Amino acid sequence: MKTDAVFDKELGAHYSKPGLLNRILSALEQAGVNLNAASSDDFSPFAEFHIGGAGATRELGRLASLRAGQLVIDIGSGLGGPARTLAEQFDVRVKGIDLTEEYCSVATELTKIVGLGARVSFEHGNALNLPFEDAAYDVAWTQQSCMNIASKDQMIAEVSRILKSGGTFVFQEVLAGENPEPLLIPVPWASDAGMSFLWTPKDIKKLIEDHGFIEKKWIDVTPKYIEEYRALAAKTADTNVRPILGAHLMLGDRSGEMRKNVVKNLETDRIKVYQGVFMKD
Ligand SMILES: C[S@@+](CC[C@H](N)C(=O)[O-])C[C@H]1O[C@@H](n2cnc3c(N)ncnc32)[C@H](O)[C@@H]1O
Repeated sequence: MKTDAVFDKELGAHYSKPGLLNRILSALEQAGVNLNAASSDDFSPFAEFHIGGAGATRELGRLASLRAGQLVIDIGSGLGGPARTLAEQFDVRVKGIDLTEEYCSVATELTKIVGLGARVSFEHGNALNLPFEDAAYDVAWTQQSCMNIASKDQMIAEVSRILKSGGTFVFQEVLAGENPEPLLIPVPWASDAGMSFLWTPKDIKKLIEDHGFIEKKWIDVTPKYIEEYRALAAKTADTNVRPILGAHLMLGDRSGEMRKNVVKNLETDRIKVYQGVFMKD
């Protein structure tokens, strides 16, 4: 049995390889992005690190009826793509928290570049022990980060603790499909099977409701995003022709294989993608 520290170190090595900021800045230059006039969308091809990209973030924000001035915590904020998109599109303030330390520093730099530093910030930390006071946030947001979390009960308890009464829990997650065969590995969230913890839609919904949340939206978005993801996987599979900006900047050359496996896992119903909006009672 691995200790938490060993697990966290291995997960960090899966997500990030040293020198990420320099790799990203060189790639942006190569792609012709002028950093003095850059917008969040310029970073989306790598920083919106989930199925559906920036489009899914905007859609989820609309689904949750985000309102200007709300204080949002983004749990597993990655390189900050969703946090910046939410601040720009919905005029909310966002605090991101992520277990991968290098992602937090890169997210901070990218946010400064697009001039959102006053409304969007990042902190290194664990979803299982959020460094915030009770009832501090209007909205708890997470996109494709809970797949790495075994203790879902503890995570939802933390979400409930830091949300105000009447606050909103919003998420997009990869969940287990009907097919019980093992996940095809590697995938973008796991280099080996021991990093992935997928629950069925039924079980995760019950857990959230058991913590006192009320369902507002609960949608299987697999059919909606599968075609788009298939096209992205095809475009990025060949390292000779893939776009300059993409998840390979974080995940390295296995990112093409990881994306192909996501497509196969979706096609064979080993996984599904859900969006949910729940209200804290
Ligand atoms: C697939 S990325 C998604 C990043 C971001 N949500 C996005 O959609 O662009 C998953 C992220 O979850 C983070 N993560 C995994 N387990 C975590 C935990 N226990 N606490 C905080 N972050 C975690 C990883 O470090 C990684 O940045």
